[in-house]
Amino acid sequence: MHINGKGYRTIWFENNIVKIIDQTKLPHQFIIKDLKTVKDAINAIKVMEVRGAPLIGATAAYGLVLSIIEKNDQLFLKKSSEELINSRPTAINLKWAVDRMMSKLKGINSNDILSTAIEEAKAIVEEDVGFCKSIGLNGLKIIEEISNKKKDTVNILTHCNAGWLATIDWGTATSPIYHAHQKGIKVHVWVDETRPRNQGANLTSYELNEEGIPNTIIADNTGGILMQRGQVDMCIVGTDRTLANGDVCNKIGTYLKALAAKDNDVPFYVALPSSTIDWNIKNAKDIPIEERNSEELSHIDGVNKKGEVEKVLIYPKKSKAMNLAFDITPAKYVTGLITEKGVCNASKEGLEKLFK
Ligand code: MRU
Repeated sequence: MHINGKGYRTIWFENNIVKIIDQTKLPHQFIIKDLKTVKDAINAIKVMEVRGAPLIGATAAYGLVLSIIEKNDQLFLKKSSEELINSRPTAINLKWAVDRMMSKLKGINSNDILSTAIEEAKAIVEEDVGFCKSIGLNGLKIIEEISNKKKDTVNILTHCNAGWLATIDWGTATSPIYHAHQKGIKVHVWVDETRPRNQGANLTSYELNEEGIPNTIIADNTGGILMQRGQVDMCIVGTDRTLANGDVCNKIGTYLKALAAKDNDVPFYVALPSSTIDWNIKNAKDIPIEERNSEELSHIDGVNKKGEVEKVLIYPKKSKAMNLAFDITPAKYVTGLITEKGVCNASKEGLEKLFK
């Protein structure tokens, strides 16, 4: 998608260096950063220079490429793979990508291992772009139907950033929106700010602006009253891990939005590529929920009067804060899952019909 009219992807590989858009600097600064070692890749995932389930998977895949460039050694590669998997716990795409790379590299001799790793990391990236495009075309039909019935602008609420910045291109939740916009359907997006890191305000609104899509940032608690007033036609969110039974783990606050949607008969869709499905964990209570540094709550970045980006404390100095990064929306609150293979019920039967 575009930034200042120029087409970008979130990650690319050039002259044995991985290039990323540093998302900790958006929206105030646009900085392309070089990742030269596997440590750089691990750090980029941890501090969220790259974030979003599919993108951290792709970064981990390229992290293994960097590990081989640094030291073409099986033990080092294994250690790198473990450290990459442990860099963030909740999004399943991270482990999915590392496992896929490691199984591709198994038994490959040291002369061929680098080229095989580069090829597989590229395949993961290209596949994600294709999946996100298909998610868009499948979700477009839902928006189109609402638009035909309503004969007016379709108001869509989204949470966090499941946009192109969270993937490689198109996004998951935003892909149907981009496709609808490109088809001339009038859409307007309610963007949940998404405290504490403000991925909605800082990233989703930013990328929608760059594509010329009307959007309005709202505080996280505003969605409920908008739904009661009939100002939301549908919700679309992304996910970091969806279980085979249709339970959805996503950015903290998603669950409360799904409850409000249910109470107000607003359709609540979750968009995801198959790499986000966890076929193994049976009970949502077993999903590892990331708890991040409480400084993400107590401090906030902004631009000061001199135009410099500055971090400021916004809480009482002595207060404790707690920062759980994800929550779980039970399948019963999800109207449908929008995947690359089509739209299905959030259930075992629904997912198995498409993927098994
Ligand atoms: O903590 P983040 O910013 O990595 O969380 C991202 C989300 O929760 C997204 O909704 C999810 O990864 C889906 S991305 C297509």
